[in-house]
This record gives sequence, C-alpha cells and structure tokens, in this order.
Amino acid sequence: MEVIIKPDSHAASRLAARKIAALVRTKPDAVLGLATGQTPLETYDRLSELHRTEGLDFSRVTTFNLDEYLGLEPSHPASFHACMRTSLFSKINIDPARVFLPDGMSEDIPRTCREYEERLRAAGGIDLQLLGIGSDGHLGFNEPSSSLSSRTRIKTLTDRTRKDNAAAFGGEDNVPHHVITMGLGTIMDARTCLLLAFGRKKAAAIAQAVEGPVSAMVPASILQMHPRAIVILDEEAASGLKRTEYYRWVYDHKPSWQKD
Ligand code: PGA
Repeated sequence: MEVIIKPDSHAASRLAARKIAALVRTKPDAVLGLATGQTPLETYDRLSELHRTEGLDFSRVTTFNLDEYLGLEPSHPASFHACMRTSLFSKINIDPARVFLPDGMSEDIPRTCREYEERLRAAGGIDLQLLGIGSDGHLGFNEPSSSLSSRTRIKTLTDRTRKDNAAAFGGEDNVPHHVITMGLGTIMDARTCLLLAFGRKKAAAIAQAVEGPVSAMVPASILQMHPRAIVILDEEAASGLKRTEYYRWVYDHKPSWQKD
C-alpha cells in the first residue's frame, strides 16, 4: 500500500486527477471504476478541466460505478446516476454506451448483479478503481461484516452511513436502506485501487484500514491485500496514522518519473 499525504484536499484531488489522466493518455480505452459521494468531486472537476483545456479524450473510456441505491430512478437527484451525470459525464466526451452503473430499479436483483459482473469481465476488468471510504470503514457500500471476497450484490446500509448521507435526501428518514454494490472481491480485481479520504471525520477509519488488522469489520482494510493500492489523504484524514514520517519519506524520495 502506498500512502501519500498532501497538505489539503485540493492538492490531493489534483494528484488523483493527474494519475487518472496519465492512465487515459497511455491507454485511451481504459476501464475506470468510479465512485460517488463528496470525496471524488474535485477530482472530477479537475478531469473535466483537463478535458476542456488539454483535450483529454474520454471517447473510448469505459466506466463502471461502484454502487447505486435501490428504488431510485436514474432521474432522482440523489441517485448516483444523477450525481455522475452532473459531476462528470455531462462535462466530458464520454460515450453514454460505455457508462455503467448498477440498476437501482431492477426487478430481478440477483440477475442484475450477475450481469454487472459479466459486463465488467467482458470489458476486460477495471484498470483503475477510484474509491472513497465511509466513516464506518466501508468501501463501495460494503458495510462492516461484508464478506472480504464478496461480488456485486444487494446490501443493507448501516444507520451511520444513512446518517452520513442524509443531506442529499433532506433527512435520514428518506435515505434508502438498500443498495446494489460491487463486492470487495470485485473491487480487489481492479488492477489499481486509488482510495481518497479527506477530513478529520475519516481519520479513524483510515487509521484502521491502513494500519489495523485486515478485518471484515473494517472493509477498506482488504486493500492491504491488494498488489497496487494507493491511498491519497489530506493532513486531517492522515492524522490518526502512526507511520506518517515513513510514508512521507518514501514519497519524497521516489524518483520524479514515479510521482504521478
Ligand atoms: P463521502 O462518502 O465521499 O461522501 O465521504 C464516501 C463513502 O461513503 O464511501
């Protein structure tokens, strides 16, 4: 696991966008795994800007999102379909036929999940999966106690996650209980995992995920088993880590060609 600590979320988001852009430039038909929530929004802004100012080309890129709420139409403003449209897809030249999110309106959930996995495989697997972390340590919507080898399936949100996401729904009571999410096994199949976390609210979850034992109680800790997991943090999210001096030294002494 590579831990990179940046002074603030702006610098961290710029670095994340540079890494994604570098992949898209070297592999124009890259398969990106995307995340929603507050954390990746500035990274998406930077990518949109790179598209606008430098012509970063997404026309052959394929994307798969981690998750979606059950029972929300894609037009519902709090759906992840809508969030992705507003924060990224409407601002870049992505081909809508290459954009995939779990179908929250599915009437046959096991089949929808199976087909999502099949589509992912048919696309050649994910080159880079962008990830946030829940304050309860979740990855995607894999809540504590999720199987560490799970595949795409229905999950039930914890009260903590429903509280964390209440603002988008105008109150906790309106947050759906159920979601479809890629499993931890699905996420671990990505060739690179790029986890972002900002703010003091994430410090405890990051400390457990990065330096604690691998445990289904902290689903993001499974990234310790990934051969290429990169964790980009701001100072506040890194504030619960014990080995920050080591992580900083490693990053500061990397050859410059390895830094982006
Ligand atoms: P956030 O959500 O980016 O809105 O904090 C992250 C997550 O729940 O995985």
